[in-house]
Amino acid sequence: MTFNTISMIGLGYIGLPTAAVFASRRKNVIGVDINQKAVDTINRGEIHIVEPELDMVVHAAVSEGYLRATTTPKPADAFMVAVPTPFHTDDNGQNHRADLSYIQAAARNIAPVLQPGNLVVLESTSPVGATEQMAGWLAEARPDLTFPQTHGEASDIRIAHCPERVLPGHVVRELVENDRVIGGMTPKCAEVACSLYRIVVEGECIPTTARTAEMAKLTENSFRDVNIAFANELSTIAHELDINVWELIALANRHPRVNILTPGAGVGGHCIAVDPWFIVGACPEQARLIRTAREVNDNKPQWVLGRVNTALEGYHREYPQARRSDLTVACLGIAFKPDIDDLRESPALGIAQQIAGLGCRVQVVEPNVDALPKTLSGHNVELASLEEALAQADVVCVLVKHKSFIKQADAVRAKQSVIDAVGLLG
Ligand SMILES: NC(=O)c1ccc[n+]([C@@H]2O[C@H](COP(=O)([O-])OP(=O)(O)OC[C@H]3O[C@@H](n4cnc5c(N)ncnc54)[C@H](O)[C@@H]3O)[C@@H](O)[C@H]2O)c1
Repeated sequence: MTFNTISMIGLGYIGLPTAAVFASRRKNVIGVDINQKAVDTINRGEIHIVEPELDMVVHAAVSEGYLRATTTPKPADAFMVAVPTPFHTDDNGQNHRADLSYIQAAARNIAPVLQPGNLVVLESTSPVGATEQMAGWLAEARPDLTFPQTHGEASDIRIAHCPERVLPGHVVRELVENDRVIGGMTPKCAEVACSLYRIVVEGECIPTTARTAEMAKLTENSFRDVNIAFANELSTIAHELDINVWELIALANRHPRVNILTPGAGVGGHCIAVDPWFIVGACPEQARLIRTAREVNDNKPQWVLGRVNTALEGYHREYPQARRSDLTVACLGIAFKPDIDDLRESPALGIAQQIAGLGCRVQVVEPNVDALPKTLSGHNVELASLEEALAQADVVCVLVKHKSFIKQADAVRAKQSVIDAVGLLG
């Protein structure tokens, strides 16, 4: 099958780079997003998200006429859907359920322009069965067309799932180099979808079923989450037993078949902290380890906060005349991982907010941002340089292991009260 026109539904962190990379292969790409501002920005050849190299690729694709954005879907040979898939909980933070309403809305929007022979690929990270549900919504809206769930290999429309596993900050390169798992609702659907991805992907395109492809993505991120939870749990056990967890892990990792990950302040971002819940939601009885790992990682920020509280109380015992507002805590890092400016779902940001709520002064050192986010504003919080913060802090809380902090580790070590959640001091 030839793909002359490809439509990307959702032009965010995943959709825009994907659209631009297809356009860079001289394919006609129609990007669709409900966000008019994003559409206008892209049509000017500019970008509305932060991702290295993306501005150049988008600028070239738009100015050469291969990429254009719109809010209304147009006919195309293939549609790729990369819209958000968040989860909801009940009022007690329990019963995590995937929110497929964005996929449903996208399906309803593209249905009117579908034509026999089209391929529709769901790229959004999804619970098992979501691709079949998308096919169901499309079929509901277009009873005149046939779909794989009823007509198998003979269907008018091919449907597949191809999860994205790129690393933010390296998206443009990884989109091309990574292997792709491509799950078709039928083998023919997988084959057609593989031929679409081979236009840009230099890695291997591996066909499977849609359900297996959905689970593969969730499995990858759950594997990471469970292993990080092991490291995080070890850090709290080691603290209790007065053992240096960083030394402990380095020693254990000398075993040729042991590779413990690094503990931290919690797990952030919008993939590892989210995707395991899709498995727990589907199989709560079976997914006991995966659920526990999520809980361990979600509780780590509270544990770090508890240590800050203990340090402040110790200070008050030593200096009974000191008021809470006289004390300064330096928070080193608020990004969700080292050396990026992304604060979304960041456990470090949440910890800094809660420390501010303890009534002390907070100096936030985050070399990757120019201003503090609104959620962290307050009379007692300010953005500071590392030097300023170390000069003034009574308690230093290391939350992210940015490269610039590693260079100044000796200065941090010299402080009397340091809570090191990330192993900066080893
Ligand atoms: N960002 C990542 O690193 C990453 C990595 C792997 C997988 N994913 C998955 O990819 C999917 C998309 O994530 P993202 O980070 O690109 O999200 P995003 O929020 O950056 O972008 C989603 C875009 O979809 C648009 N949108 C919402 N509803 C729409 C609709 N009905 N029609 C057209 N556009 C619509 C939004 O306006 C937004 O621009 C999610 O399922 C996510 O879990 C993300």
